[in-house]
Amino acid sequence: MNLETGALDISSATYGDLRDWIDKVDHLGELTTIRGAERDLEIPGIWETVSRAGGGIAPALLFDDIPGFPGGFRILFGELESVRRLAMTLRLEMEGTSILACVKACRDRLRKMTLISPRKVKDGAILENAETGSAIDLYKFPVPRHHEKDGGRFFGTGHCVISRDPEEGWVNLGTYRCMLLDEQSLCLHMSAGRDGRTMMHKYFARGEPYKVAVAVGTDPALYLASTMTVPWGISEYDFAAGLKGEAMEVIEGPYTGFPLPANAEIVVEGECRPGDTHLEGPFGEWAGYYANCGLSPVHEPIIHVKNLFYRSKPVFTCSQPAKPPSDLFAQGVFRSALIWDELEKAGVPNIRGVWCELAGGTRLFNIVSLKQAYPGHARQAGIIASQCGSGVYIGRYTVVVDDDIDITDMKDVIWAISTRSDPVRSLEVTRRGRSSSADPAVSPDIKVTSHNPDDTYTSKAIIDACWPYEWLNRAYPVAQVSQELQRKIVTKWGKQLNLNGRGS
Ligand SMILES: Cc1cc2nc3c(=O)[nH]c(=O)nc-3n(C[C@H](O)[C@H](O)[C@H](O)COP(=O)(O)O)c2cc1C
Repeated sequence: MNLETGALDISSATYGDLRDWIDKVDHLGELTTIRGAERDLEIPGIWETVSRAGGGIAPALLFDDIPGFPGGFRILFGELESVRRLAMTLRLEMEGTSILACVKACRDRLRKMTLISPRKVKDGAILENAETGSAIDLYKFPVPRHHEKDGGRFFGTGHCVISRDPEEGWVNLGTYRCMLLDEQSLCLHMSAGRDGRTMMHKYFARGEPYKVAVAVGTDPALYLASTMTVPWGISEYDFAAGLKGEAMEVIEGPYTGFPLPANAEIVVEGECRPGDTHLEGPFGEWAGYYANCGLSPVHEPIIHVKNLFYRSKPVFTCSQPAKPPSDLFAQGVFRSALIWDELEKAGVPNIRGVWCELAGGTRLFNIVSLKQAYPGHARQAGIIASQCGSGVYIGRYTVVVDDDIDITDMKDVIWAISTRSDPVRSLEVTRRGRSSSADPAVSPDIKVTSHNPDDTYTSKAIIDACWPYEWLNRAYPVAQVSQELQRKIVTKWGKQLNLNGRGS
């Protein structure tokens, strides 16, 4: 904390649990508290409106005094939807405050960090209140209905689903939505290829139940890790702690035996059973559609809840998948950092940046910038970025541009595509690539006739919008006022023409 200005020094701030984090965000001036809004549609709608107005970057919104619930039972939206909150959470060392500086700082963190195992503790704030068996009542929490066409309320949208691999013994955390069915049951939606789903099928193949825990209101670093494609075999507990630089504190779950976040706001333990499903959804998704199976619900496994733990006056964390740019800022930053890292590990030199554009839901339209070093360099980067572990999930369009283009500014990117590429020379299409049940470009006929919305493929286009390497040295000069001249103009005329803040 800078005592003179009262401002928080972002890179040195530390926090304990979510409540401490909320206080720090308040000090940063990035928290807005709203009282009296309705949990169904209104609260999610307020968040979506604020987030959309900021192009996907917005203050965190904390809702209190929610009608029908005791004061202090709060809902939090928008945990990591700004550069400053992400930087504070992970104590990032950034050169500048731009989005790309944030991506670079995250890439550096990924490279330098080491995995840290969770620290087992005997007690934790999560044990303040406990209910078991038929005493459990999930209706006590202000679980919202998010969008007008949703088929129900969703308990898990900003949470972590915890499970253990039956063969290898490691613990996975993934953010897979959980629909509220009744006082003691939830319904779980995990897409094909998700680690949690792979584990579930291993248990079901043995005829055994799949034990899970669902944690809401965790340390934001743990939530972030849970939404990221962490390689198989690495626990998000260790990964989150590596990112943050501090071990996660866990207690042992009495029913599952899993490590549970000791200071989360709400945790349930339960199990799914082979063949035991319920209609799930529909639910508005991150690509901006009800694309799983249109508005038809699909059968998904039921979680039978055995134990409930929660802190007094809990903070119920949520996210709002919707037409982008929705709240995927931190996922966009980290997916960009991961693809950048994977490109370099694959031996692609001179990468200057990667940006998974928010308008493409951080998965559908990704841009790579590089300084070309040899013929085929741009094509190599594009193909690898579209197929590497962090880019392959749908990853429909990958654009490669020269390093003078601002890849976080879509006007610049469209200018590069439309002026430096030629469709016949510059487009590369690969077929039958990885898609998703949430892919809106896959016909409903395929999803319905296969009886499995995951039975999908997509083609992927690489748009090489770099100058052709063979005449790179003779690339046409850009017709634009130079930065130096612009600075002089702003100094001389800025006040009169209201230009201050530009040209720097
Ligand atoms: C807010 C949010 C909600 C998500 N909901 C789902 C979901 O309902 N089902 C799903 O399969 N993936 C969902 N995802 C994506 C997964 O959380 C993500 O791919 C994560 O890497 C999965 O973890 P895993 O690699 O351990 O399987 C969501 C991501 C975010 C950011």
